[in-house]
Amino acid sequence: MLRDTQFRHITVSPITGALGADIHGIDLASHPDDPAFDEVRRALDKYHVVAVREQNLTPQTLHTVARRFGPFSGNPVHAPIEGLDDIIRFVREPDDTGKVIGEDWHMDLAWMAKPPGLTMLYGEVIPPVGGDTCFSSLAQAYRALSPGMQALLHDRIGVHSGKGVFEINAANSRLALREDAQNIDTIEAEHPIVCVHPATGERYLFVSSVMQSIKGLTAEESRPLIDYLLRHAVRPEFNCRVRWAPRTLTIWANPFVLHTAINDYPGYRRVTYRTTVEGWVPMAVPAASDTIAQAA
Ligand code: SIN
Repeated sequence: MLRDTQFRHITVSPITGALGADIHGIDLASHPDDPAFDEVRRALDKYHVVAVREQNLTPQTLHTVARRFGPFSGNPVHAPIEGLDDIIRFVREPDDTGKVIGEDWHMDLAWMAKPPGLTMLYGEVIPPVGGDTCFSSLAQAYRALSPGMQALLHDRIGVHSGKGVFEINAANSRLALREDAQNIDTIEAEHPIVCVHPATGERYLFVSSVMQSIKGLTAEESRPLIDYLLRHAVRPEFNCRVRWAPRTLTIWANPFVLHTAINDYPGYRRVTYRTTVEGWVPMAVPAASDTIAQAA
């Protein structure tokens, strides 16, 4: 397994050439020193998805660990577990049928004005086989576009809508939803299609499964372009696949990736706990640096 020698306090091993890394050698629940903790943050900036192995978390300690990464982003859809406002529980029982939670490529809460910057998912009960999560890099997707398509998308604004999100979640009988979750049907957020990461300056494509239209284009013009971008964004060369083990904490830089839960473990139970960390209002490329040549 390749080890990234830029990290000295933790062991970081890339999962694919596109994104994702396995991390060993840190116990997040024991409040590690800043140098080790900062390397986890740095690994997230570099790899966008990290699977931190051999953790030993309870909902309470997940809460403590998560809040070291930043404040809770809020979640207008899912009801939290009792006593912890920022933690939700996802359960799939062996005899459940239908879609699993998070099936189909998406970004978490992309229709919020400030989508979560990080999603953290802790695996408590994991099937002996299957139940992986796939991720795709929106930074790689941006870089792979032709200069002509990059130019076309610069300054474009995508409209992302909560419409239909309640229905998808309500179809899953195991999901506890907030009492007012139906209100998200009316929420819309406008995000630049080409964004820059506030800390690293890296450019990425902001597309999501709930992107409904592109401002300034007709519906007939927007739809095929959105469909193309969504297909492009999940090409296999931009992907990695996290193979879960019990006690893995997977953290992803939510606006930088699309992800999908794989529905391939009938007959097995899967229990995970999720929380999210506040992000930022997606930022367009600053006008002064708005040239294709500077694409990160
Ligand atoms: C999610 O989409 O947040 C859940 C992904 C998973 O359960 O693998």
